[in-house]
Amino acid sequence: MKFKKTLFAGIAVIAGASALLTSNMASAQKDWPTKNIQLVVPFAAGGPTDTIARLIAVPMGQALGQTVVVENVPGAGGTIASTKVARAAPDGYTIYIHHMGMATANALYDKLPYDPMTSFEYIGQVADVPMVLLGKKDLPANNFKELEAYIRANGSKVTMANAGPGAVSQLCGLLFQSRLGVRLTNIPYKGTGPALTDLLGGQVDLLCDQTTQTIPYIKDGRVKAFGTTTMKRLPAIPNVPTLNEQGLKGFEVKVWHGVYAPKGTPQPVLDKINAALKKALNTPDVKKRLEDSNIDIVPMDKVSAKGLKSHLESEINVWGPVIRKANIPD
Ligand code: MLT
Repeated sequence: MKFKKTLFAGIAVIAGASALLTSNMASAQKDWPTKNIQLVVPFAAGGPTDTIARLIAVPMGQALGQTVVVENVPGAGGTIASTKVARAAPDGYTIYIHHMGMATANALYDKLPYDPMTSFEYIGQVADVPMVLLGKKDLPANNFKELEAYIRANGSKVTMANAGPGAVSQLCGLLFQSRLGVRLTNIPYKGTGPALTDLLGGQVDLLCDQTTQTIPYIKDGRVKAFGTTTMKRLPAIPNVPTLNEQGLKGFEVKVWHGVYAPKGTPQPVLDKINAALKKALNTPDVKKRLEDSNIDIVPMDKVSAKGLKSHLESEINVWGPVIRKANIPD
């Protein structure tokens, strides 16, 4: 009898505690955010991903009533940051922007400490960014044909920068080398921000980089543009031919981006982040800045968990075979 009473009292205490916990969690979700939110960027500051992150961070913060602070966690082509975010507390105070490296890393690494399809919550796609094959200003080649001849004559003496395995600069660079049937000396950086600095300084010969940061340098002749990775020429640089039209048929790399949160982040919090992201992408300043770099903001129905998750899944299926066929990495 005494045992029964104690048991019932114990159950009542547990039930009370769990009701309190549920109500505390509900009110935490309702009040969220009450402090700064960290937006993790998997590459160095000053590069394309960082630029997009900083563009959306300010209006997202305004929409949420708290500052969205960009934190750069570069290294290993973005996989260090992905691992960190997958292991972060799912409380809405850590969110993550990554590009299509989220889909390609699977095929580039034997084993990742996270699974792109199960370790995250999906908030929405952001924007699609074209790439351009660039050379340093004093490279003795002025067009794609001359570049090809220069590469064939100099082979591995030619250096090509990238942001590590999993980075789109690496993917683009290695696909380019695979299409020409050559292997250059590939030099990894912590992002294409520092890689572009070295290209401008003439320390490295080639870099495949996104238009987010390259258009002004192409326009003022501080780097040479040998071809775009798009099927059509880009309005901002109409004199630069596509790689496709110069013989690399079907050479297309468009860098899509997504915003994620750690798995288990509560749905009401994800909904608030999604609404803030949509608002940010509709800000006139953000639209203009992206348009000027020939970056396409995705249609609003893709700024959704479903839009991002299904795109990620289809991109894993697209890039896996391409990477294996191109023998990347060798
Ligand atoms: C960056 O932000 O540095 C780039 O997106 C890296 C890359 O993937 O090439």
